[in-house]
Amino acid sequence: MYGEIRITAINKRKPRKAYEGVYLKCLVIGASGLVGRELASRLAANDETAVTFLSNPIEIKGAEAHRLDLANPGSATELIGSFKPEIVFHLAANPSVDWHEREQAAAYAVNVACAIAISRKTREIGAKLAYLSSAFVFPGFGKFYSEEDIPAPVNFYGATKAAAESAVRANPNHVIVRTDQIYGPHKAGQKKSFVVSTLEKLSQGKKAEVCRDWMNCPTYYGDLAAVLMHLASSEKTGTYHAAGPDFIDRYDWALRIAAAFGKDASLVAGIESATLDLPAKRPNVRLSCGKLMQETGIRMKGVDEGLVEMMRHV
Ligand SMILES: NC(=O)c1ccc[n+]([C@@H]2O[C@H](COP(=O)([O-])OP(=O)(O)OC[C@H]3O[C@@H](n4cnc5c(N)ncnc54)[C@H](OP(=O)(O)O)[C@@H]3O)[C@@H](O)[C@H]2O)c1
Repeated sequence: MYGEIRITAINKRKPRKAYEGVYLKCLVIGASGLVGRELASRLAANDETAVTFLSNPIEIKGAEAHRLDLANPGSATELIGSFKPEIVFHLAANPSVDWHEREQAAAYAVNVACAIAISRKTREIGAKLAYLSSAFVFPGFGKFYSEEDIPAPVNFYGATKAAAESAVRANPNHVIVRTDQIYGPHKAGQKKSFVVSTLEKLSQGKKAEVCRDWMNCPTYYGDLAAVLMHLASSEKTGTYHAAGPDFIDRYDWALRIAAAFGKDASLVAGIESATLDLPAKRPNVRLSCGKLMQETGIRMKGVDEGLVEMMRHV
């Protein structure tokens, strides 16, 4: 027992050489989430891996699993101190943007206070820190946002992600990956992505009301897992944008989902987000991913290609 942390399994396997010249011992914080699970499964196939979850217990073959609540930053640092990973992937966050707007003190504790603690601890033990951030650090004014642009969030979620980024940078051996609207096949207990929730409604013959005025760069979860692995296991440090190349509104996206999965597109109805009266503003941010492509050669899938790939897994 480590305070809030319960060890459910111990992996005694020695780290193996997984990438060019790099021996990896990895901790994935937030491994029960959409990207975290995929990333952890890929890592555990080769590397000594520990994973964390909060409310959705997971079992990943070859990985030791810990329950961890970031509301208690000490539990994260204790786990890092005892497991001594070479790389910490920090992917955990409450998925609701509106929750952050309503519960600002709790959101600050989970997203920012914990990032400060995790950054300090990883620096202390000489581990690399890979952090998954968001396009929502930007205000979204109809331009391509590069890694050089200065964050100026319009909602509290974005503000906590920007503050967490600053905390992460206190460990010089870090990578920050900013992304947008992640989608992929759904596993039990996981948050449903826009694709999965839209598909569910269409499959049940229900109307899918989607915001015409919300625009995103939909990002396929497998691509993001590959980017995180690549950047974290290389010598690279700094901030990278990794999102799909299409910048589309939710109505267009929903129509493409209907087309890809052979559903009735007439069930898709466009609405204006103002009618939902949500507490958090949604910026329409277009991320430029040129740096990622130039430096790594990684190409992110567009929506249609990603949906085809997703069909192979559902
Ligand atoms: N989803 C998107 O479209 C999107 C876009 C941009 C950036 N991001 C960022 O990308 C990261 C991963 O996103 P995702 O969509 O893969 O996440 P997700 O599916 O919502 O999973 C979130 C993960 O964080 C864990 N978690 C939540 N609150 C926690 C807490 N208080 N303490 C410890 N763990 C906690 C969850 O655990 P349980 O499930 O076990 O409770 C889960 O493992 C997040 O940092 C998010 O801010 C996401």
